[in-house]
Amino acid sequence: MKTSLLAIALATLAGIASAHAQTNPAQAYPTRPGVVIVPFAAGGPADITGRIAAEIFSKALGQQFVVENIGGAGGATGTTRAARAAPDGYTLTLGHMGTHAAAVALTPNLAYNPVTDFEPIGLMSTQPVVVATRKGFPANNLKEFVTYAKANASKLNMAHAGVGSVSYTSCLLLNHEIGIKTTMVPFTGTAPVLNAMLGEQVDYVCDPILGPLPHIRAGTLKAMSVATEKRHPALPDTPTSAEGGLPGFQAAPFYGIFAPKGTPQAIVDKLSAALSAGLDDPVVANRFATLGAVITDKKDRDSKGLAAMVKSELARLTPILKAASAQ
Ligand code: MLT
Repeated sequence: MKTSLLAIALATLAGIASAHAQTNPAQAYPTRPGVVIVPFAAGGPADITGRIAAEIFSKALGQQFVVENIGGAGGATGTTRAARAAPDGYTLTLGHMGTHAAAVALTPNLAYNPVTDFEPIGLMSTQPVVVATRKGFPANNLKEFVTYAKANASKLNMAHAGVGSVSYTSCLLLNHEIGIKTTMVPFTGTAPVLNAMLGEQVDYVCDPILGPLPHIRAGTLKAMSVATEKRHPALPDTPTSAEGGLPGFQAAPFYGIFAPKGTPQAIVDKLSAALSAGLDDPVVANRFATLGAVITDKKDRDSKGLAAMVKSELARLTPILKAASAQ
């Protein structure tokens, strides 16, 4: 008798829990695999970062999150796809200083609004930009690069991941600081850019350190400078922009995860907590350190931190980029 009463009680509780999960899907989330869109080609800094986020979510939430690379239009194609996806927590996107700030000033008819079309999940990292050239380029540091570029601007090919991307934006600002205009060659990401540089087909790139670092270490690409105030521990012999005579050229773009606008708050909170905790995992921290990225401080990692970063980068970059592209 006691056993059957217990069985009835348990069945009732299970029924209530399942009914609750049905009326409140956020409670049960995630019940199926999810996607993290990376709006650039596989193998570059955005892809590496998006894959780390997908691994963090898979491990923390018990469902597989896979990366889908949707390159094109400087990140706008994949980011627009994410903005229009169902706001159910199963489609997320990796966004950065390009897709969620610079693109507003640089991309005509941008089909999404980085502030109103997304629920920010959290900040992951900043990634110092390195100015790198093909191995055979006739300069060995930023000072020599500037001298050579001023004399030969019309012959130079700058390669980038599309108008509005981090690599485009950073090199646009570099060119503006130097006072030159060069040919700008678009790719779907900087992984294919680096392949073209290894083949000596294009001259230079402004890429977050995650991309060129292994090639610089291997001696197959050359680092001209790192666009931060201090030298980077991974490239101790590479001068900063200021050391190279361009103190105004600073670039360390942010990387974060966004969900489409309207994603339930409980799901946003779950993803945000999982992302922040995942970044504390020593394996993840060590991986980012090895790659040269700087993990965002815990206090700034949440949705509010990412929302504030997007707004402040929009305000900072929009006038500078309009001026630089009008030059
Ligand atoms: C990449 O990850 O392919 C590029 O760094 C993207 C970008 O330049 O924004």
